[in-house]
Amino acid sequence: MSGEMVRAFARLRQMALFKCLHLDLSLTIIAIMLVLDNLPNPKRDRSSAVGRAGWYPYYAGFSSDFAQAVLDYFVKSASSRVLDPWNGSGTTTAVTAGKGHEGFGFDLNPVMVVVARARLLNKRERSSLLPLAKLITSLAVSRHEVQSDDPLNLWFKPQAIGSLRRIEQGLQKSLFGLDKWVPMQKHIQANDFSDIAAFFYVALFRTIRAFLTRFESSNPTWIKAPKGYSTKLEPSERTIRDQFLMQISSMISALDSDVLEKDGKIKIGLAASQRVPLPDSSIDFILSSPPYCTRIDYASATRVELAVLGLSEGDAFENLRRSLLGTPTVPPEAPACLPGWGPTCESFLRAVKEHTSKASSTYYYKGHCQYFDGIYNSMLELHRCLKPSGQACLVVQDSFYKDVHNNLPTIYAEMAESMGINLTGRKDFPLSRSMGQVNVMSRRYRTSGAATESVLLFTKD
Ligand SMILES: C[S@@+](CC[C@H](N)C(=O)[O-])C[C@H]1O[C@@H](n2cnc3c(N)ncnc32)[C@H](O)[C@@H]1O
Repeated sequence: MSGEMVRAFARLRQMALFKCLHLDLSLTIIAIMLVLDNLPNPKRDRSSAVGRAGWYPYYAGFSSDFAQAVLDYFVKSASSRVLDPWNGSGTTTAVTAGKGHEGFGFDLNPVMVVVARARLLNKRERSSLLPLAKLITSLAVSRHEVQSDDPLNLWFKPQAIGSLRRIEQGLQKSLFGLDKWVPMQKHIQANDFSDIAAFFYVALFRTIRAFLTRFESSNPTWIKAPKGYSTKLEPSERTIRDQFLMQISSMISALDSDVLEKDGKIKIGLAASQRVPLPDSSIDFILSSPPYCTRIDYASATRVELAVLGLSEGDAFENLRRSLLGTPTVPPEAPACLPGWGPTCESFLRAVKEHTSKASSTYYYKGHCQYFDGIYNSMLELHRCLKPSGQACLVVQDSFYKDVHNNLPTIYAEMAESMGINLTGRKDFPLSRSMGQVNVMSRRYRTSGAATESVLLFTKD
């Protein structure tokens, strides 16, 4: 037996310790394990933020190399249909397009829908981008009356907001045919952006982010606000225009270094993973990384971009925050724990509820129940959308509640098994630092920020 086979058997024995597994020692499973053993680490690092992936280096994204390897190994037929129900910055859909498959990518955050759409821009458009950028800036001349409730007021002085919104006005005129600047969300939904419009909106996001670096913190999901009016930013009109054009040039050069070409038919849209807008049994393969269970505020992480779209304040923002899985906001009542959530989830929730630390039995218990309720309903949707024998590859990170291990990979496996999706392979990648450590309070209970990212492969009955 080769060394690889021996290792595969050892891992198989290790996996069989999980109660949820009914592994039959077939050659298929060994083959899957060998494949998983050779997968690159899903973690996105600086070196993987090349090409279109570098246009919006999403802290929560996985790497294109990983997505490519997964699709290479598991999606053989050109006519396959691939879904990512938590599509984020669109790694799955970009790679699916590059391989010529049909793809579907959904996310509840409109910013991520725009970013994922931009990534589908075809290289053929390259030569039109700079002339279009110049047209946009030449149209950005009429007066813009800055509204007192413009969300960009949080960071910029009115004159700078006027210049930024004038660029947006040029963009809206040239790409959406609008005569007058409008807050984007009032007229155009994220679903209706063309690839080119999404490209220029991402350039505008990057332009604004470039001015805000001094307000960034070590927490990638948080951006500070200036302490008072005098410390708000006031770059000149010229500086803003130059920054916008510079961002576009750097995005264009990234296009050249990208090996992916768009061929596949891709649908990107705004949708909840609990209500995927696809027919039953229509999907061959799912590749995704579900939201973390570490109270990450995905909405606040994109507050700058939501401000551009006019969605960073009021009800629109609060509703978005509440609807994202893993959110730190909690419902008044905890959803009931169902048998389908599995024994590991049940004992974890009990440990949270009985934990002696403050608010464990109230806020934290409700928050975790809300997360598992959302994940369970999403898994039911994945089950509904997958064809019989369809496969799903999920990248899931474990975490800790205080000192209690939240064994998410096993919880996902148990939930999936309760509905007839079986775990057929697993590969663990140790992480030296995890998103759980973003929360400084967690360091009181654990000095190490280490976590494990697991690649789980499932097959539907
Ligand atoms: C871990 S990220 C996915 C990153 C993605 N794999 C990539 O490469 O960029 C999870 C995503 O789930 C989205 N999300 C959270 N709750 C959701 C829900 N209920 N339905 C759909 N998307 C949701 C978040 O906005 C976030 O973009």
